[in-house]
Amino acid sequence: PESITVQELANRMAERASDIVRLLSKLDMPGSSYETELDQDTAELVISEFGHNIVRVSDADVEVGMVGEADDPATLVKRPPVVTIMGHVDHGKTSLLDALRGTDVVKGEAGGITQHIGAYQVTLPGGEAVTFLDTPGHEAFTEMRGRGAKVTDIVIIVVAWDDGIMPQTIEAINHTKAAGVPMIVAINKMDKAGADAGRIRQALLQYDVQVESMGGEVQDVEVSAVKKTGLDELIEKILLQAEILELKANPNRAAEGSVIEAKLDKGRGPLATVLVQRGTLKVGDVFVVGAEWGKVRAMLNDKGVQVKTAGPSLPVEILGLSGVPRAGDPFMVVENEARAREVASYRAGLETAKRTVSAPADLASMFMALK
Ligand code: GTP
Ligand code: MG
Repeated sequence: PESITVQELANRMAERASDIVRLLSKLDMPGSSYETELDQDTAELVISEFGHNIVRVSDADVEVGMVGEADDPATLVKRPPVVTIMGHVDHGKTSLLDALRGTDVVKGEAGGITQHIGAYQVTLPGGEAVTFLDTPGHEAFTEMRGRGAKVTDIVIIVVAWDDGIMPQTIEAINHTKAAGVPMIVAINKMDKAGADAGRIRQALLQYDVQVESMGGEVQDVEVSAVKKTGLDELIEKILLQAEILELKANPNRAAEGSVIEAKLDKGRGPLATVLVQRGTLKVGDVFVVGAEWGKVRAMLNDKGVQVKTAGPSLPVEILGLSGVPRAGDPFMVVENEARAREVASYRAGLETAKRTVSAPADLASMFMALK
Protein backbone atom coordinates (compact mmCIF):
# COMPACT_ATOMS: atom_id res chain seq x y z
CA PRO A 1 0.00 0.00 0.00
CA GLU A 2 0.96 3.61 -0.50
CA SER A 3 -0.17 4.62 2.95
CA ILE A 4 -0.35 3.45 6.53
CA THR A 5 -2.76 4.34 9.30
CA VAL A 6 -1.63 6.09 12.46
CA GLN A 7 -2.64 3.02 14.47
CA GLU A 8 -0.71 0.60 12.29
CA LEU A 9 2.37 2.81 12.38
CA ALA A 10 2.09 3.05 16.16
CA ASN A 11 1.94 -0.74 16.39
CA ARG A 12 4.98 -1.18 14.22
CA MET A 13 6.98 1.31 16.25
CA ALA A 14 5.60 0.08 19.58
CA GLU A 15 4.58 3.66 20.35
CA ARG A 16 1.24 5.13 21.41
CA ALA A 17 -1.05 6.21 18.59
CA SER A 18 -2.05 9.23 20.68
CA ASP A 19 1.58 10.38 20.71
CA ILE A 20 1.65 10.21 16.93
CA VAL A 21 -1.56 12.25 16.70
CA ARG A 22 0.01 14.83 19.01
CA LEU A 23 3.14 14.94 16.88
CA LEU A 24 1.07 15.31 13.70
CA SER A 25 -0.72 18.33 15.08
CA LYS A 26 2.65 19.91 15.78
CA LEU A 27 3.62 19.06 12.21
CA ASP A 28 0.67 21.02 10.88
CA MET A 29 -1.70 18.10 10.51
CA PRO A 30 -4.27 18.93 13.17
CA GLY A 31 -7.39 16.79 13.46
CA SER A 32 -5.62 13.51 12.72
CA SER A 33 -7.08 10.38 14.23
CA TYR A 34 -5.91 6.79 14.68
CA GLU A 35 -7.47 5.99 11.30
CA THR A 36 -5.76 8.82 9.42
CA GLU A 37 -3.83 7.47 6.45
CA LEU A 38 -0.26 8.76 6.26
CA ASP A 39 1.67 8.85 3.02
CA GLN A 40 5.17 7.48 2.92
CA ASP A 41 6.98 10.80 3.42
CA THR A 42 4.88 11.66 6.44
CA ALA A 43 5.30 8.18 7.90
CA GLU A 44 9.06 8.40 7.49
CA LEU A 45 9.08 11.80 9.15
CA VAL A 46 7.08 10.45 12.09
CA ILE A 47 9.39 7.46 12.37
CA SER A 48 12.49 9.63 12.50
CA GLU A 49 10.87 12.07 14.94
CA PHE A 50 10.33 9.12 17.26
CA GLY A 51 13.98 8.20 16.89
CA HIS A 52 13.34 4.83 15.23
CA ASN A 53 15.22 3.43 12.31
CA ILE A 54 13.60 2.39 9.10
CA VAL A 55 14.72 -1.01 8.02
CA ARG A 56 13.98 -1.80 4.44
CA VAL A 57 13.26 -5.43 4.04
CA SER A 58 14.54 -7.19 0.99
CA ASP A 59 12.39 -8.44 -1.87
CA ALA A 60 13.32 -11.96 -0.95
CA ASP A 61 12.14 -11.64 2.60
CA VAL A 62 8.90 -10.08 1.54
CA GLU A 63 8.34 -12.86 -0.97
CA VAL A 64 8.95 -15.61 1.49
CA GLY A 65 6.99 -13.84 4.18
CA MET A 66 9.95 -13.28 6.47
CA VAL A 67 8.93 -9.79 7.48
CA GLY A 68 9.07 -9.41 11.23
CA GLU A 69 5.92 -8.26 12.92
CA ALA A 70 6.14 -5.66 15.63
CA ASP A 71 5.10 -6.75 19.09
CA ASP A 72 2.03 -5.43 20.83
CA PRO A 73 3.33 -2.92 23.42
CA ALA A 74 1.44 -4.85 26.12
CA THR A 75 3.71 -7.86 25.57
CA LEU A 76 6.94 -5.96 26.14
CA VAL A 77 9.02 -6.44 29.27
CA LYS A 78 12.29 -4.93 30.40
CA ARG A 79 15.42 -6.47 28.91
CA PRO A 80 19.13 -6.05 29.74
CA PRO A 81 21.12 -3.41 27.84
CA VAL A 82 23.60 -4.56 25.19
CA VAL A 83 26.86 -2.65 25.52
CA THR A 84 29.75 -2.57 23.04
CA ILE A 85 33.20 -1.42 24.07
CA MET A 86 35.24 0.43 21.46
CA GLY A 87 38.43 2.46 21.41
CA HIS A 88 41.96 2.74 20.12
CA VAL A 89 44.34 -0.19 20.15
CA ASP A 90 45.91 -0.85 23.57
CA HIS A 91 43.70 1.65 25.38
CA GLY A 92 42.41 -1.15 27.58
CA LYS A 93 39.19 -2.49 26.05
CA THR A 94 39.91 -6.10 26.85
CA SER A 95 41.24 -5.26 30.30
CA LEU A 96 38.12 -3.25 31.05
CA LEU A 97 35.88 -6.06 29.84
CA ASP A 98 37.76 -8.51 32.01
CA ALA A 99 37.45 -6.20 35.01
CA LEU A 100 33.72 -5.77 34.42
CA ARG A 101 33.36 -9.49 34.01
CA GLY A 102 34.99 -9.85 37.41
CA THR A 103 31.95 -8.12 38.92
CA ASP A 104 29.70 -10.95 37.76
CA VAL A 105 28.02 -12.54 40.73
CA VAL A 106 27.13 -15.72 38.91
CA LYS A 107 30.60 -16.55 37.67
CA GLY A 108 32.11 -19.83 38.73
CA GLU A 109 28.85 -21.75 38.73
CA ALA A 110 29.12 -25.51 38.72
CA GLY A 111 30.35 -26.76 35.37
CA GLY A 112 31.31 -23.27 34.33
CA ILE A 113 34.32 -23.35 32.12
CA THR A 114 34.86 -19.85 30.88
CA GLN A 115 35.22 -19.71 27.16
CA HIS A 116 35.41 -16.91 24.73
CA ILE A 117 32.23 -16.50 22.76
CA GLY A 118 32.69 -12.82 21.98
CA ALA A 119 29.68 -11.75 23.97
CA TYR A 120 28.73 -12.25 27.54
CA GLN A 121 26.24 -11.29 30.17
CA VAL A 122 27.16 -10.08 33.62
CA THR A 123 24.71 -10.29 36.48
CA LEU A 124 25.32 -7.46 38.94
CA PRO A 125 25.00 -7.72 42.70
CA GLY A 126 21.71 -5.81 42.46
CA GLY A 127 20.35 -8.52 40.16
CA GLU A 128 20.43 -6.46 36.97
CA ALA A 129 22.07 -8.01 33.95
CA VAL A 130 24.18 -6.27 31.32
CA THR A 131 25.27 -7.87 28.04
CA PHE A 132 28.71 -6.92 26.76
CA LEU A 133 29.87 -7.44 23.20
CA ASP A 134 33.51 -8.17 22.93
CA THR A 135 33.78 -8.86 19.24
CA PRO A 136 32.65 -6.01 17.08
CA GLY A 137 35.88 -4.45 15.91
CA HIS A 138 35.21 -1.30 13.98
CA GLU A 139 34.85 -3.04 10.67
CA ALA A 140 32.42 -5.61 12.01
CA PHE A 141 30.44 -2.83 13.66
CA THR A 142 30.21 -0.85 10.44
CA GLU A 143 29.38 -3.89 8.39
CA MET A 144 26.69 -5.00 10.78
CA ARG A 145 25.20 -1.54 10.83
CA GLY A 146 25.33 -1.37 7.04
CA ARG A 147 23.31 -4.56 6.92
CA GLY A 148 20.65 -3.20 9.21
CA ALA A 149 21.66 -5.14 12.30
CA LYS A 150 21.22 -2.96 15.31
CA VAL A 151 22.71 -4.98 18.10
CA THR A 152 24.09 -2.47 20.54
CA ASP A 153 22.15 -0.12 22.80
CA ILE A 154 25.10 1.71 24.34
CA VAL A 155 28.75 2.16 23.32
CA ILE A 156 31.54 2.63 25.82
CA ILE A 157 34.47 4.49 24.29
CA VAL A 158 37.67 3.70 26.12
CA VAL A 159 40.38 6.36 26.02
CA ALA A 160 43.72 5.87 27.75
CA TRP A 161 44.42 9.28 29.31
CA ASP A 162 48.16 9.08 28.60
CA ASP A 163 47.74 8.31 24.91
CA GLY A 164 44.79 10.61 24.32
CA ILE A 165 42.36 10.72 21.42
CA MET A 166 43.76 8.54 18.64
CA PRO A 167 42.52 7.62 15.13
CA GLN A 168 40.46 4.65 16.26
CA THR A 169 38.98 6.69 19.08
CA ILE A 170 37.74 9.17 16.50
CA GLU A 171 36.45 6.35 14.33
CA ALA A 172 34.59 4.89 17.28
CA ILE A 173 33.04 8.27 18.07
CA ASN A 174 31.93 8.66 14.47
CA HIS A 175 30.48 5.15 14.26
CA THR A 176 28.60 5.63 17.47
CA LYS A 177 27.15 8.93 16.34
CA ALA A 178 26.19 7.52 12.96
CA ALA A 179 24.43 4.62 14.66
CA GLY A 180 22.54 7.05 16.89
CA VAL A 181 23.58 5.12 19.97
CA PRO A 182 24.40 6.87 23.27
CA MET A 183 28.04 6.75 24.32
CA ILE A 184 29.76 6.69 27.67
CA VAL A 185 33.42 7.73 27.71
CA ALA A 186 35.65 5.67 30.01
CA ILE A 187 38.91 7.51 30.66
CA ASN A 188 41.25 4.63 31.43
CA LYS A 189 44.67 4.04 33.00
CA MET A 190 43.96 6.55 35.75
CA ASP A 191 46.32 4.58 38.01
CA LYS A 192 49.30 5.82 36.02
CA ALA A 193 51.33 8.60 37.58
CA GLY A 194 50.34 12.11 36.58
CA ALA A 195 46.86 11.04 35.43
CA ASP A 196 44.98 13.94 33.88
CA ALA A 197 41.43 13.20 32.77
CA GLY A 198 40.71 16.88 32.16
CA ARG A 199 42.97 16.79 29.15
CA ILE A 200 40.78 14.12 27.56
CA ARG A 201 37.54 15.92 28.34
CA GLN A 202 38.99 19.02 26.72
CA ALA A 203 40.29 17.15 23.70
CA LEU A 204 36.89 15.48 23.15
CA LEU A 205 35.33 18.86 22.46
CA GLN A 206 37.19 18.95 19.16
CA TYR A 207 35.20 15.90 18.08
CA ASP A 208 31.91 17.32 19.20
CA VAL A 209 31.73 15.18 22.29
CA GLN A 210 30.77 17.27 25.29
CA VAL A 211 30.87 15.48 28.59
CA GLU A 212 28.65 16.60 31.44
CA SER A 213 31.33 18.61 33.24
CA MET A 214 31.90 20.49 29.98
CA GLY A 215 28.26 21.42 29.79
CA GLY A 216 27.29 18.54 27.52
CA GLU A 217 25.24 15.39 27.91
CA VAL A 218 27.77 12.63 27.36
CA GLN A 219 28.61 10.73 30.51
CA ASP A 220 32.23 10.07 31.35
CA VAL A 221 33.91 7.98 34.01
CA GLU A 222 37.50 7.80 35.20
CA VAL A 223 38.59 4.17 35.50
CA SER A 224 41.56 1.94 35.92
CA ALA A 225 40.97 -1.45 34.38
CA VAL A 226 44.09 -2.75 36.05
CA LYS A 227 43.44 -1.41 39.56
CA LYS A 228 39.68 -1.96 39.09
CA THR A 229 38.70 1.54 40.13
CA GLY A 230 35.69 3.44 38.82
CA LEU A 231 33.91 0.25 37.79
CA ASP A 232 30.92 0.79 40.07
CA GLU A 233 30.46 4.25 38.69
CA LEU A 234 30.74 2.95 35.13
CA ILE A 235 28.13 0.29 35.81
CA GLU A 236 25.89 2.86 37.43
CA LYS A 237 26.07 5.02 34.32
CA ILE A 238 25.32 2.07 32.06
CA LEU A 239 22.24 1.22 34.12
CA LEU A 240 21.14 4.85 34.17
CA GLN A 241 21.48 5.08 30.41
CA ALA A 242 19.59 1.79 30.01
CA GLU A 243 16.83 3.15 32.21
CA ILE A 244 16.50 6.22 29.98
CA LEU A 245 16.33 4.05 26.86
CA GLU A 246 13.49 1.96 28.34
CA LEU A 247 14.78 -1.18 26.68
CA LYS A 248 12.04 -3.75 26.23
CA ALA A 249 11.27 -6.90 24.28
CA ASN A 250 8.57 -9.55 24.08
CA PRO A 251 10.05 -12.77 25.48
CA ASN A 252 6.99 -14.87 24.57
CA ARG A 253 7.32 -15.34 20.84
CA ALA A 254 9.49 -17.12 18.31
CA ALA A 255 13.05 -15.89 18.71
CA GLU A 256 14.73 -13.34 16.48
CA GLY A 257 18.21 -11.95 16.77
CA SER A 258 21.52 -11.27 15.06
CA VAL A 259 24.72 -13.18 14.55
CA ILE A 260 27.60 -11.70 16.55
CA GLU A 261 30.23 -14.07 15.25
CA ALA A 262 30.41 -17.43 13.54
CA LYS A 263 33.03 -19.98 12.71
CA LEU A 264 33.62 -23.53 11.58
CA ASP A 265 34.80 -25.73 14.44
CA LYS A 266 36.69 -28.88 13.49
CA GLY A 267 34.88 -31.08 15.95
CA ARG A 268 31.51 -29.42 16.35
CA GLY A 269 30.82 -28.06 12.88
CA PRO A 270 29.46 -24.58 12.14
CA LEU A 271 28.96 -22.50 15.28
CA ALA A 272 27.31 -19.13 15.66
CA THR A 273 27.10 -16.77 18.59
CA VAL A 274 23.67 -15.24 18.36
CA LEU A 275 22.27 -12.36 20.33
CA VAL A 276 18.58 -13.01 20.98
CA GLN A 277 16.77 -9.70 20.51
CA ARG A 278 13.19 -10.75 21.00
CA GLY A 279 11.38 -13.93 21.83
CA THR A 280 12.91 -16.95 23.50
CA LEU A 281 15.15 -19.38 21.70
CA LYS A 282 14.81 -23.04 22.67
CA VAL A 283 16.74 -26.21 22.00
CA GLY A 284 15.02 -27.93 19.06
CA ASP A 285 13.88 -24.68 17.42
CA VAL A 286 14.22 -24.57 13.64
CA PHE A 287 15.69 -21.34 12.30
CA VAL A 288 16.94 -19.41 9.31
CA VAL A 289 20.10 -17.37 9.63
CA GLY A 290 21.17 -15.41 6.59
CA ALA A 291 21.36 -17.96 3.78
CA GLU A 292 21.83 -20.84 6.24
CA TRP A 293 19.35 -22.70 8.35
CA GLY A 294 19.37 -25.25 11.11
CA LYS A 295 17.84 -26.76 14.19
CA VAL A 296 19.25 -25.84 17.60
CA ARG A 297 21.03 -29.00 18.72
CA ALA A 298 22.57 -27.39 21.77
CA MET A 299 23.12 -23.93 23.19
CA LEU A 300 25.94 -22.73 25.42
CA ASN A 301 26.04 -19.54 27.39
CA ASP A 302 29.20 -17.44 27.80
CA LYS A 303 30.25 -19.59 30.73
CA GLY A 304 30.28 -22.67 28.56
CA VAL A 305 27.20 -24.02 30.31
CA GLN A 306 24.49 -25.71 28.27
CA VAL A 307 21.19 -23.88 28.42
CA LYS A 308 17.76 -24.97 27.21
CA THR A 309 16.33 -21.51 26.57
CA ALA A 310 17.67 -18.03 25.87
CA GLY A 311 15.58 -14.86 26.20
CA PRO A 312 16.04 -11.26 25.02
CA SER A 313 19.58 -9.77 25.21
CA LEU A 314 21.16 -13.13 25.99
CA PRO A 315 24.07 -14.16 23.78
CA VAL A 316 24.36 -17.89 23.14
CA GLU A 317 26.50 -20.11 21.02
CA ILE A 318 24.39 -22.46 18.96
CA LEU A 319 25.18 -25.79 17.38
CA GLY A 320 23.23 -27.31 14.53
CA LEU A 321 23.72 -24.98 11.57
CA SER A 322 23.83 -25.98 7.89
CA GLY A 323 26.81 -23.67 7.31
CA VAL A 324 28.65 -20.67 8.66
CA PRO A 325 26.62 -17.43 8.56
CA ARG A 326 28.11 -13.92 8.62
CA ALA A 327 28.31 -11.45 11.49
CA GLY A 328 25.22 -9.29 11.40
CA ASP A 329 23.06 -11.90 9.67
CA PRO A 330 19.49 -11.89 10.93
CA PHE A 331 18.42 -14.95 12.85
CA MET A 332 14.81 -16.04 12.97
CA VAL A 333 12.96 -19.08 14.24
CA VAL A 334 10.47 -20.51 11.73
CA GLU A 335 7.71 -23.08 11.98
CA ASN A 336 9.39 -26.05 10.33
CA GLU A 337 12.35 -27.40 8.38
CA ALA A 338 10.65 -27.17 5.00
CA ARG A 339 10.12 -23.48 5.56
CA ALA A 340 13.69 -22.98 6.79
CA ARG A 341 15.13 -24.71 3.73
CA GLU A 342 12.90 -22.73 1.42
CA VAL A 343 13.97 -19.36 2.84
CA ALA A 344 17.64 -20.29 3.10
CA SER A 345 17.82 -21.61 -0.46
CA TYR A 346 15.93 -18.61 -1.76
CA ARG A 347 18.46 -16.33 -0.11
CA ALA A 348 21.39 -18.46 -1.22
CA GLY A 349 20.06 -18.30 -4.76
CA LEU A 350 19.89 -14.56 -4.59
CA GLU A 351 23.44 -14.37 -3.37
CA THR A 352 24.69 -16.60 -6.12
CA ALA A 353 22.89 -14.52 -8.68
CA LYS A 354 24.61 -11.55 -7.06
CA ARG A 355 21.36 -9.69 -6.97
CA THR A 356 21.42 -6.78 -4.62
CA VAL A 357 19.24 -7.53 -1.69
CA SER A 358 18.20 -3.96 -1.19
CA ALA A 359 14.75 -2.65 -1.11
CA PRO A 360 11.35 -1.94 -2.45
CA ALA A 361 10.64 1.37 -0.83
CA ASP A 362 6.98 0.94 -0.07
CA LEU A 363 5.45 0.91 3.34
CA ALA A 364 4.35 -2.69 3.26
CA SER A 365 7.92 -3.83 3.13
CA MET A 366 9.28 -1.57 5.77
CA PHE A 367 9.41 -2.29 9.42
CA MET A 368 10.97 -0.70 12.38
CA ALA A 369 14.10 -2.02 13.96
CA LEU A 370 13.99 -3.12 17.54
CA LYS A 371 14.55 -0.13 19.71
P1 GTP B 1 43.61 -4.21 21.59
O1 GTP B 1 42.63 -5.31 21.78
O2 GTP B 1 44.94 -4.68 21.12
O3 GTP B 1 43.07 -3.08 20.78
O4 GTP B 1 43.95 -3.56 23.03
P2 GTP B 1 42.95 -3.29 24.21
O5 GTP B 1 42.32 -1.95 24.01
O6 GTP B 1 42.06 -4.42 24.42
O7 GTP B 1 43.95 -3.11 25.44
P3 GTP B 1 44.36 -4.19 26.53
O8 GTP B 1 43.28 -4.38 27.49
O9 GTP B 1 44.91 -5.36 25.86
O10 GTP B 1 45.49 -3.37 27.27
C1 GTP B 1 46.64 -2.90 26.61
C2 GTP B 1 47.74 -2.68 27.61
O11 GTP B 1 47.37 -1.63 28.52
C3 GTP B 1 48.01 -3.90 28.48
O12 GTP B 1 49.38 -3.97 28.71
C4 GTP B 1 47.28 -3.59 29.77
O13 GTP B 1 47.85 -4.20 30.89
C5 GTP B 1 47.41 -2.08 29.84
N1 GTP B 1 46.29 -1.49 30.59
C6 GTP B 1 44.98 -1.66 30.36
N2 GTP B 1 44.26 -0.98 31.26
C7 GTP B 1 45.14 -0.37 32.08
C8 GTP B 1 45.01 0.46 33.24
O14 GTP B 1 43.93 0.78 33.71
N3 GTP B 1 46.16 0.89 33.82
C9 GTP B 1 47.39 0.57 33.35
N4 GTP B 1 48.42 1.04 34.00
N5 GTP B 1 47.54 -0.24 32.28
C10 GTP B 1 46.45 -0.70 31.65
MG1 MG C 1 41.76 -6.19 23.22
